[in-house]
Amino acid sequence: MRRQLKTWRVAAWAPALAMLAALAAWRMLPGEETTSTRSGSAEVQDSDFQAMVERMKAAKQQVMKKHAALLAARYDLSDRRAEGVTMSRGKPVQQGPRTKLPQGMTWEQLAALRPQQIKERGLFPAGFLPLPHPNHAEGGMLFPRFHIDEIKRQEDRDLTRFDLDYDLPDHLLPEFPPPIYLTTRPDLGDVSGGKLVTLENYYELFKDILNPKQLEGLRLLLVPMAQQQFNATLDRRSEQAHRGVTCFDCHVNGHTNAATHLVGDIRPQPFRHRIDTPSLRGVNVQRLFGSQRALRSIEDFTEFEQRAAYFDGDPVAAQRKGVTILERGSQVHFMAEFQALLDFPPAPKLNVLGRLDPRLASESERRGEALFFGKAECGTCHPAPYYTDNLMHNLRVERFYQPQEINGRMAAADGPIKTFPLRGIKDSPPYLHDGRLLTLEDAVEFFNLVLELKLDQQEKQDLVAFLRCL
Ligand code: HEC
Ligand code: HEC
Repeated sequence: MRRQLKTWRVAAWAPALAMLAALAAWRMLPGEETTSTRSGSAEVQDSDFQAMVERMKAAKQQVMKKHAALLAARYDLSDRRAEGVTMSRGKPVQQGPRTKLPQGMTWEQLAALRPQQIKERGLFPAGFLPLPHPNHAEGGMLFPRFHIDEIKRQEDRDLTRFDLDYDLPDHLLPEFPPPIYLTTRPDLGDVSGGKLVTLENYYELFKDILNPKQLEGLRLLLVPMAQQQFNATLDRRSEQAHRGVTCFDCHVNGHTNAATHLVGDIRPQPFRHRIDTPSLRGVNVQRLFGSQRALRSIEDFTEFEQRAAYFDGDPVAAQRKGVTILERGSQVHFMAEFQALLDFPPAPKLNVLGRLDPRLASESERRGEALFFGKAECGTCHPAPYYTDNLMHNLRVERFYQPQEINGRMAAADGPIKTFPLRGIKDSPPYLHDGRLLTLEDAVEFFNLVLELKLDQQEKQDLVAFLRCL
């Protein structure tokens, strides 16, 4: 009798419960900043925060496992180094391609098909599809472990998130700490002294080679500023109240450590792109900033990063979490001025026009250059000397796949993206705006399909050899 009553009660409540669950799910849907809009308000208690920490910590393993499975299905993540090829300060460059082919296909068979056929038969390699954030529904800034450890050691500032770890293995990322080259003092070569530049050491390292204004700009790039996941409110993803994130936590030494987050300006959430931190080397010769923002100056981008990108494009969250309002004339301007001094790394095989000096290049590299500006058409969008046309292009990769949801990321169409420069490109894996390509060989296979080039094995190798000279 009692049992029956219970069943009846549940049955009566079921539709209402389902409705509530659906509503809750809808609330958590894309576009909502998950917990941020709720838990940051004044009535949130310490106990709520502790409960959230415990809940997200408990869910973390499952989230990471799911994402690791996605990576393993897409890529060969092993440590295979290209013989004798290194980044500017000596980290081995990885050999590719690392993108796994669909069952039973070769790259040549795939390239023989038309985009429509690849799409219809679902044969586009999974690694060429948009890469989701390790937890796409949650998003936010995420730093590689080597960076977190070094910052903790030097500044006692912990960039660990309790809910999530960075995903790609170290050997597939840029060297750390990377060298720094200044447009104003090329005679000095790397001015980093092999160090991670921080508030502790920047003055000593740079006082004799920068003017006071540039020094102040560099200092501001090293000052932690409150951010969506790292702040002092109870809506954060660090266990302890946090001072915040510096510009160089991602653009480490003016380059990149491949830290990731979600682009601020797309909604709903599943459509937001994962974004791989671009190098700031060579921003002085560029005209568009951000993969899709197309902001027109380094000053604009600096101000935008701080006020908008740091807070997922939510001005209310920014205000609540303690946004740093940078003064345009004396702070933003100084920061931009320092950024504009960051040069590409030396490329000893290139001449004044940014083309190969044939006397210094191997046969394969020379053939690669001829392909780059000829049959492979790379030079149309990536012209010398900096290997960018300073424009955006829509590669229309969606010609090759059906719209699909990938771990919370809705892969439909990316739209026009900035042509990133290829000078110094071997120093900044992974590639594309979301880091979906792990090696330069992957980039060549990707463009071979996207541009329908039908390159043969030797031609692909030659192109990679040339890209490594840039
Ligand atoms: C989470 C790591 C992260 C932090 C911290 C960060 N950035 Fe960025 N930065 C990025 C990413 C990712 C992009 C690419 C944005 C896009 O694709 O729209 C970017 C783009 C840029 C660009 C444009 C580069 C280009 O080639 O188009 C500039 C300039 C820049 N950031 C400056 C700054 C400054 C100044 C700060 C500090 C206020 C800062 N960044 C903090 C990750 C970061
Ligand atoms: C139609 C213009 C166009 C052509 C032709 C082109 N690219 Fe690109 N390239 C782009 C754009 C746009 C991006 C950025 C795409 C993105 O991030 O999603 C890019 C990105 C890249 C990147 C990654 C850059 C980075 O910093 O992550 C590499 C490497 C590259 N291209 C190599 C090549 C090679 C090699 C060829 C010739 C086989 C080629 N591209 C042909 C427009 C082009």
